[in-house]
Amino acid sequence: MISKNIGIFDSGVGGLTVLREITKLLPNEDIVYFGDTARVPYGSKSRERILEYSFQDAAFLLSHNVKIIVIACNSASSTALQKLQDNLSVPLLGVIEPGALEAVRFSKNKKVGVIGTKATVESHSYTNAVHSLVGNDTSYEVFEKACPLFVPLTEDGWIDHTITHLVAEEYLSPLKEKGIDTLILGCTHYPLIKKTIQRVIGDEVSLVDSSVVVARELVRLLKFHDILNDQRRKGRIECFVSDDPDNFFTMAKLFLGDTKIDINEVSLDLIISQTV
Ligand code: DGL
Repeated sequence: MISKNIGIFDSGVGGLTVLREITKLLPNEDIVYFGDTARVPYGSKSRERILEYSFQDAAFLLSHNVKIIVIACNSASSTALQKLQDNLSVPLLGVIEPGALEAVRFSKNKKVGVIGTKATVESHSYTNAVHSLVGNDTSYEVFEKACPLFVPLTEDGWIDHTITHLVAEEYLSPLKEKGIDTLILGCTHYPLIKKTIQRVIGDEVSLVDSSVVVARELVRLLKFHDILNDQRRKGRIECFVSDDPDNFFTMAKLFLGDTKIDINEVSLDLIISQTV
């Protein structure tokens, strides 16, 4: 029996959307989550900075007996997955590939939209992933749009708010004009405003919620590596944050409802001192 933890990291609280889906499929697994609340957001930072932070976040998780690491953050997955994979001894799972694969499965007209942070969109990671999945089929088109305001709106709890609706109309209209039939929610926070996004983009467009597909892919990977935890008791969820655990606790309710989690503060100095 494997009793090691699943490690998840994110720039802050957003990765709890991924954690939530993982706990639905893998209720018996123990999870260690690190949210870098002292340095959030990652999505507006440079590639170099995101890489540096991601290495420290992963190293911190490695010091917590993890058997696999899930990079819940789209900005970090876009930037650091490959480099981390080259340097880490445990398997890693990012959110980009699973999301791209689902989009290719859904899309009939081969016009796929992607929304995410500035870092995710500028990395073109989803576009590259879609194109490498469809190989020679050059008829696939991917249209990307950065939607940075969705993160603060969600964190303020403006989930079903007129302002969020108006912002969504502004952001999504260029994608609508392109005639996309599939839209990847390429940011941890967007599943929370899925209803607003669906209303604005139209029912004919399929939404790909990366958090759901990543959880499914994680199950597959754990089976593949034969590291599923077969204990019968409910798994423990231990969260570490680099700043303001009280705020994390408040926001966690928005993301997780009543799911019970332990929250600990860890000093940023300790995170910065971590090396892979
Ligand atoms: N977690 C980030 C992502 O999915 C969103 C918040 C941030 O910019 O750090 O890209």
